[in-house]
Amino acid sequence: MNNEYINMIRSKVDIVDIIGERIPLTARGKNFFCVCPFHDDTNPSMSVSREKQIYTCFSCHATGNVFQFLMDYEHIDFKEALKYLGDRVGIDTKNIQIKKTSSKYDKLYEAYQLSLKYYQNNLSSKEGKIARDYLANRKITDDLIKEFEIGLSLDKKDDLTKLLSSKSYDLVTLNQIGLSSDNHDIYHDRIMFPLYDVSGKVVGFSGRIYKDNNQNKYLNTKETPIFKKGELLYHYHIAKEEARIKKSIIIMEGFMDVIRASSIGIKNTIALMGTAMTKEQLNLIKRLSNHMILCLDGDEAGQHAMLSIGENLLQVGLEVKIVMIPDDDDPDSFILKHGKERFENLLSSAINYRDFKIQTLKDKVDFRSDEETANYINQVIEETAKIDDVIRREVILKRLAKEFDIGYNTLEMRINSFLKENQSKEEVKIPFQNQEKKNKYTKAFEQILFFMLNNDWVITQVEKERVMFPNEVMRSTCNEIIYYYKTYGEIHLADFYTYIEDKEKIKELINTILTCNYNETTNKEELGEYFNCVKEYTKNQEIKRLTNIMKKEMDPLEQAKIAEKIRKLRLGDI
Ligand code: UTP
Ligand code: MN
Repeated sequence: MNNEYINMIRSKVDIVDIIGERIPLTARGKNFFCVCPFHDDTNPSMSVSREKQIYTCFSCHATGNVFQFLMDYEHIDFKEALKYLGDRVGIDTKNIQIKKTSSKYDKLYEAYQLSLKYYQNNLSSKEGKIARDYLANRKITDDLIKEFEIGLSLDKKDDLTKLLSSKSYDLVTLNQIGLSSDNHDIYHDRIMFPLYDVSGKVVGFSGRIYKDNNQNKYLNTKETPIFKKGELLYHYHIAKEEARIKKSIIIMEGFMDVIRASSIGIKNTIALMGTAMTKEQLNLIKRLSNHMILCLDGDEAGQHAMLSIGENLLQVGLEVKIVMIPDDDDPDSFILKHGKERFENLLSSAINYRDFKIQTLKDKVDFRSDEETANYINQVIEETAKIDDVIRREVILKRLAKEFDIGYNTLEMRINSFLKENQSKEEVKIPFQNQEKKNKYTKAFEQILFFMLNNDWVITQVEKERVMFPNEVMRSTCNEIIYYYKTYGEIHLADFYTYIEDKEKIKELINTILTCNYNETTNKEELGEYFNCVKEYTKNQEIKRLTNIMKKEMDPLEQAKIAEKIRKLRLGDI
């Protein structure tokens, strides 16, 4: 029953609007195209169909209806996607019951939630006094402690392991999920910062030393199925909301920087938790905003990282600005020393990535050497050629001509050759998606399923002919289509998607089929040919099966009988 409400909400919104509000769409024929946000790409490989109300990426096979899109794009769950769309069309979704899809990691999340509470308790207990003083000394107020759910692990105790064991977690599991090691607590006497996944669930911890000792400053949870450090970004779930208002994302190194910025009301921030950015993180970030502000530490490592990260951000089509924090400070220490206003000034004086890069080129050049000077000028021109703005290019070249007393024409000639080079680079595109080699039978079965999804009469034919699909997933997909058709009287692909929401294998198969360019419509005659192909397949399978039995058969008489059966099958007599 609930699916009816869900389908009603779906039918009142247009997937083209929802996607179009987030990614630029171009109309081509009856479909719309855009750069797929679900894989690393700059080609328009995603198509959005107004008629079918689904999207399909021909490159990474991401496919689905408007709910699926919102869930994956906004990192929200089904209920949130439903509420968002419900609000839009004025339908209250509070009372719509949704099958709660239990995740196989529920137990893991729960263990982390329990640990979080345990650490938080410690910090506010008597034993937390020194840690509280340390935090107060660093101007981490009680409000911030609460907001960022900061806690404390105690000295030389196995309390957490004991606590979780008493709650039916066995030691093997606790060791596996990174909460214990060798059956003992991992964290001793550290201030505990919870780390969240992109939807805001606690999935790990980073523990900081707070007394003078020479252990590693931070100790992070090991990689588990729910905690992959390279696939999350600190504060992502909050920054996601803020980015909509502020229209930009500020990228920092450490979570202390993010916490400090938050204390002065700047919350559109994420922390890399180091100076590297993985491909997965890049994919996550580019969904938040088109405007990135890199604000890493002011030291050399920070500058260096901004150069490489900036280049990567630009490559996926984002606008990148750089904030340079003076005097080797980090955002945290800068804000503490100079206050909110000066930090805000720093942010608003952020410079364009290319200008930053051009500035840094100057750093190690010995201008007494003609060769180094010429090399420098060439590099500046090469970078300038990457700027997509004639006026800015001319400004830079004029300045360069003046500074080094070189004819403007010489510089112009040079930049033109770089511009030409860049253009030819752009034209060489990677060939589009190579369809994996499938045998003709797999293709036939997939094509039949695709026909079923688009033509009700094919469903009836498939049932009548009792088409036998070759594997479990295809069989259940076929059964679900038939069942859905009988229940709802028609197949609307976008609603069918909602129906198979929790059937992962079926969804996967349908995604593949939808992105393989099969024909949409057919006629009786053509369908008959596909059915013949299926029969041929079934026959071959049967021959294979019988041949195997025959090989194992000891009795010559029985063997002969089977051989005769095979012969008849080959002739098509059975
Ligand atoms: P920083 O060393 O810049 O940390 O490392 P910070 O933010 O200034 O921290 P405080 O002010 O000394 O407390 C940046 C990030 O790198 C990771 C952490 O995630 C940290 O936030 N890091 C650093 C580690 O994982 N392990 C370490 O030993 C150090
Ligand atoms: Mn710091």
